[in-house]
Amino acid sequence: MKEKIIIFDTTLRDGEQSPGASLSVHDKLEIARQLSRLNVDVIEAGFPVSSPAQFEAVKRIADESDKIIAALCRAKEYDIKIANDALLNARHPRIHTFSSTSDIHILGKFGDSKYGASLSEKRNMVLQMSYDAVAYAKTFTDDVEYSAEDAGRTDIGYLAEIIESVIEAGATTVNIPDTTGYTFPSEFGDKIRELKSRVSNIEKAIISAHCHNDLGLAVANSLAAIQNGVRQIECTINGIGERAGNASLEEFVMALRVRKDIVDFYTEIKTTEIYNTSRMVSGFTGIIVQPNKAIVGDNAFSHESGIHQDGMLKNKFTYEIMTPESVGVNKTKIILGRHSGRHGLSARLKELGYTPTEDEMQKVYESFLELADKKKEVFDDDLRVLMGDDVLTQSSFYKIEYLNVTSGTAAIPTATVRIKTPENVFEESSTGDGPVDALFNALDRALDIKPTVESYSVRSVTSGRQALGEVTLRLKLGNKILNGRGLSTDIIEASGKAYLQALNNNKPQKLDEYFDLEFENQIRVRG
Ligand code: KIV
Ligand code: ZN
Repeated sequence: MKEKIIIFDTTLRDGEQSPGASLSVHDKLEIARQLSRLNVDVIEAGFPVSSPAQFEAVKRIADESDKIIAALCRAKEYDIKIANDALLNARHPRIHTFSSTSDIHILGKFGDSKYGASLSEKRNMVLQMSYDAVAYAKTFTDDVEYSAEDAGRTDIGYLAEIIESVIEAGATTVNIPDTTGYTFPSEFGDKIRELKSRVSNIEKAIISAHCHNDLGLAVANSLAAIQNGVRQIECTINGIGERAGNASLEEFVMALRVRKDIVDFYTEIKTTEIYNTSRMVSGFTGIIVQPNKAIVGDNAFSHESGIHQDGMLKNKFTYEIMTPESVGVNKTKIILGRHSGRHGLSARLKELGYTPTEDEMQKVYESFLELADKKKEVFDDDLRVLMGDDVLTQSSFYKIEYLNVTSGTAAIPTATVRIKTPENVFEESSTGDGPVDALFNALDRALDIKPTVESYSVRSVTSGRQALGEVTLRLKLGNKILNGRGLSTDIIEASGKAYLQALNNNKPQKLDEYFDLEFENQIRVRG
């Protein structure tokens, strides 16, 4: 009989740690609802102690979800207490606590002599700390997961000792992360098998694997793990996560499904929801899916060469090992336009997995009409970016009233902007190295600030000349990092919107309520 593999989705926690990704509470709620439709078993909703926004996101997801909701916390009483507070209304709460177990991590994080004079003393301290954390978490919920961070590089004898100890303390799931994506599949599989034979109480817990993709082996390692005793896989949509990311949910799940002839395992994932989930995560995080990405990339089901096309026409299984429909890729594209109306828009958004409130629907409809005026055809990917929190809840303290940018091969790029706030209008011009630089210089002058642009990227949301351009940027102002996103069929306007949105997002309602002095000193509201 085939055995079930528990799918633990960590898109909202590890996935959100991807460079450049930042999800609002609204975005996380929408993704969590879609993960439920996808039917994952566990949703890791965040790391509550790390920020008030993380706490709120975990709490709101826990409040409404029927799934097991996991909250991450370090092996510290305070963290565990906060994680439990966030999970208070969860129907199925899981506290997920972790500590580092490899020597390199222990020496790096607990180098101070107060943690022990020798490596062996430090190891004992980590062992005790882990035991205590699990025992404390257990006072709040029965469902406690323990992760041995950097288990992939942890000495097997010590790893076995610590796993045995946390199971004794009550851990119901023991996670073996390959935190640095260092191991080879055979090596990782051996490690799991070895643990099974060394840990005397291992049968009392589910063994889990959490593989990173630094060498591109995360899915292969996850497959090796289940073949050696693991029954929970931690993974993310589109494989996003720290550095090179985590094991990709869609690749792991489809590998089990397509090769059911050789594996004795199954998942309960509703695979037809994979594509919608992938695109929703990409739309909200701004992390694009590479075209040749397995399962969900644009090219995953395209056939370019004549020989392949001919083969496909005769029998589609000549070159396809799964159908696009099985992962929710619908080849007939539905295109909306100005005349589709509010009802048509609302119906399509629901099919794409979104659940807009009345108020959100009104805002997205206005943005939709504005967009449909500029480009005749509005595609699903356009709608996905319109559903982003920045469009729906955009604070509009700073608004572009007028923008004119000129540039050309023989001209000095020049920009003039007029920015409106509820009380003032600021107008300035400037030149720059290019049109975007000129625009940002003019905005700096108009608002009398000088942020540094830490990152700037522009992408076309769909293809074609009238495509919607999306600009994502990160500004540093004082000690604050401000993220902004702007959308327009004109990428210069999108750049201006992104710049102002970065300020708007971080702008308190009242002018005198700045978060801290350093920030206040940087933004001087004139007039
Ligand atoms: O990669 C890792 O080790 C983690 C743990 C916190 C599970 O993300
Ligand atoms: Zn991780």
